[in-house]
Amino acid sequence: MAQDRFSFGKNWKKYLACVDEERIKIAEQSLLETLKVPDLHGKRFLDIGSGSGLFSLAAHRLGAEVVSFDYDAESVSCTQEMEKLWGKTGGEGGSQPWTIFQGSVLDQEMLQRLGTFDVVYSWGVLHHTGDMKQAFENVVPLVKSKGRLFLSIYNDQGRMSRFWHWVKKTYNGSGPTGRLALLTLAFIRTWMFVFLVDFVRHGSPLKRWKKYREDRGMSPFRDVVDWVGGYPFEVAKPDLVFNFFQERGFQLEYLTTCAGKLRCNEFVFQKL
Ligand SMILES: C[S@@+](CC[C@H](N)C(=O)[O-])C[C@H]1O[C@@H](n2cnc3c(N)ncnc32)[C@H](O)[C@@H]1O
Repeated sequence: MAQDRFSFGKNWKKYLACVDEERIKIAEQSLLETLKVPDLHGKRFLDIGSGSGLFSLAAHRLGAEVVSFDYDAESVSCTQEMEKLWGKTGGEGGSQPWTIFQGSVLDQEMLQRLGTFDVVYSWGVLHHTGDMKQAFENVVPLVKSKGRLFLSIYNDQGRMSRFWHWVKKTYNGSGPTGRLALLTLAFIRTWMFVFLVDFVRHGSPLKRWKKYREDRGMSPFRDVVDWVGGYPFEVAKPDLVFNFFQERGFQLEYLTTCAGKLRCNEFVFQKL
């Protein structure tokens, strides 16, 4: 039962059932707005750590040739299922190839065979590889000149990040009882106060719970499992990410920080 890394794929399988036209459109729109382009016709799009495959699908429907890979076999099969269910329907694109396979961003030999891309997208992934700096290094040659690199990376909160690192490592190394104990504590910390406030303010303790479920399309409890289990786990301050890529010829185009919280900072770089 004890393991040294978390399997994200199980969660993605559940997410598939909640995907609908509206969610896909929102994903398409967010790609277009961040890239400031009308579509992705004629572009090569690489999704590293594709997870559910939603953003690969969005890029595919916007006209890109898409390559998706993930370390986790269940995430890969989820992306394949996404392609089967939604890949050829609607949208502007869908006619360009979409390749999906199992692989690791730490495997340099495999990456060399992929060539270069107009857009390299890796959302919430490189900090879960076990070697974030090497993963940063490995994505650099994958981006074409003038191409874009989308990243989202956990913020470094110092002591709090080290605490969560310990929780996640302990969770993955524990048996069922230890896991249940950690999950219960994390669940109480995340939701109990919310239940209380919603009860006092709205007379319904589940108000935000239900909204979260509708917005995310996933059980909030399952998200707590993902958060507590999500290991390997590394973090970086925004300036570390910025300096790393600037030194390698990238210019920052877009940045959203999480205001010092334990969430992800989001970056879009352009390779000069
Ligand atoms: C939090 S999920 C994010 C999934 C997706 N990018 C998204 O935004 O929804 C992290 C994903 O990274 C994958 N992953 C972890 N290590 C990896 C590696 N070395 N190479 C490729 N994918 C990896 C996990 O299997 C998981 O599907």
